[in-house]
Amino acid sequence: MSDTAAVILAAGQGTRMRSETPKVLHRIAGCPLVGYVVAAAVEAGIGRVVVVVGHGAAQVEDALGDAVETVRQTELKGTADAARRAGEALRGDPGVSDVLIAHGDCPLLTGALFRDLIRRRRETGALIALVTSPTDDPRGYGRVIRGPDGQVETIVEEAQASEEQRAVRDVNAGVYCIEAGWLWKHLSAIQPSASGEYYLPDLVGLAVGEGALVQAIEAPPTVTAGVNDRVQLAAAASIIQERLRRELMISGVTLIDPATTYLDRGVTVGRDTVVYPGTVLEGATTVGVGCRIGPHTRIVDSTIGDGAVVEISVVESSRVGDNARIGPFSHLRPGAWIESEVELGNFAEVKNSRIGARTKVHHVSYIGDARVGEDVNVGAGTITTNFDSETGTKNQTVVEDGASLGCDTMLVAPVTVGKKAMTGAGSVVTHDVEPGVVVVGVPARPLRPRRDRQHSGG
Ligand code: UD1
Ligand code: CA
Repeated sequence: MSDTAAVILAAGQGTRMRSETPKVLHRIAGCPLVGYVVAAAVEAGIGRVVVVVGHGAAQVEDALGDAVETVRQTELKGTADAARRAGEALRGDPGVSDVLIAHGDCPLLTGALFRDLIRRRRETGALIALVTSPTDDPRGYGRVIRGPDGQVETIVEEAQASEEQRAVRDVNAGVYCIEAGWLWKHLSAIQPSASGEYYLPDLVGLAVGEGALVQAIEAPPTVTAGVNDRVQLAAAASIIQERLRRELMISGVTLIDPATTYLDRGVTVGRDTVVYPGTVLEGATTVGVGCRIGPHTRIVDSTIGDGAVVEISVVESSRVGDNARIGPFSHLRPGAWIESEVELGNFAEVKNSRIGARTKVHHVSYIGDARVGEDVNVGAGTITTNFDSETGTKNQTVVEDGASLGCDTMLVAPVTVGKKAMTGAGSVVTHDVEPGVVVVGVPARPLRPRRDRQHSGG
């Protein structure tokens, strides 16, 4: 498909969204609407992709990045005018024989549909191949008017349609494949509508009027539906969720209740992981194999190892190692790095901290800006007091391997608790604790060397 260029129309304001955000930047499953259409064009193997931007142009260009070309439509004079702007960028390209045009507000479109459409035009030699959609609810769409032989004769916009035409339940999907030379020549022949807008679908009537062949292929509304308002946004989102859930299930993931599992595009989950109801996996999130996730869990931009359990918890920009157990009711804030087999649960909050393998943080604690070693026991109610409100700075806490922190220990950072050291219940640790020493009190002072569990039998 390298001799096909794609033109994606995304300049419109989207008045019906009633939003400060340009319509094509509204997101479904973490991806802006226009991103889906670009992805479908790329998936179809189309060489050049040109997006026409206008309303909120700079914002839309930013969101698109460098992966596509953009051209600006300065006055929003309709879909045909938008296509003309793209023509200015493309018409000199001798490598482009077909132009596929689609709307940036149709996020359900697929690469497979684009390929079918391009193939249909080439195989039949039609000047235009377009996609039509049978629907129970044609409101807002252009109606496809056919002759007695069933051939498409013209497209009539709703505002221009007679009562009889309005009753037609076959609508224009706004997806066309058009012979490039003919397209560039005829875009300027389109006359403005009563509202002063130039309608791209008028090309169909023009081609038929010239006696040229126009072909149509059909696709269901689950592929062609456009988003003009928030009701349609939610309807499209639910179809995209269904697709994402289905992909995961087919790949070997159990979703106990698919309907309450929400996935962002690009999230990956390993085989034999079981996802419980009310789970939301967002952003650049990867979950390993054999995990148990949820119920009622939100994981954002995080990596979860194999065999981990995350239950009724929120995990943001964090790493969780293999076989770790998180929750119920834990909050991993950005920069939490939980190593393998850690047990973190019942109201534990961790931020910007590394927690070493097999360490237990079982009950009601806050660990921030800390480096906690392996095999540490963190008693209930332990917190790092990492914020110095006089200087406004955050300070580091270090707890070395094998240390044991008694219930309600306050670690007043910056502070280090040495290897296998121990703090008594209620200690307020303001000075470094030497390895193997027991400290108690407020402020905590050394009591004696720690008894070795093996010898004391305790
Ligand atoms: C359009 C079609 C209609 C079709 C429907 C399918 C026209 C005149 N009508 O109607 O036949 O059934 O799509 O979804 O084409 N845009 C621009 N510049 C503009 C105007 C629009 O780039 O000046 C872009 C919009 O950002 C949008 C797309 O073109 O992505 C379609 O515009 P929209 O106003 O949503 O057209 P519809 O009323 O949906
Ligand atoms: Ca639309």
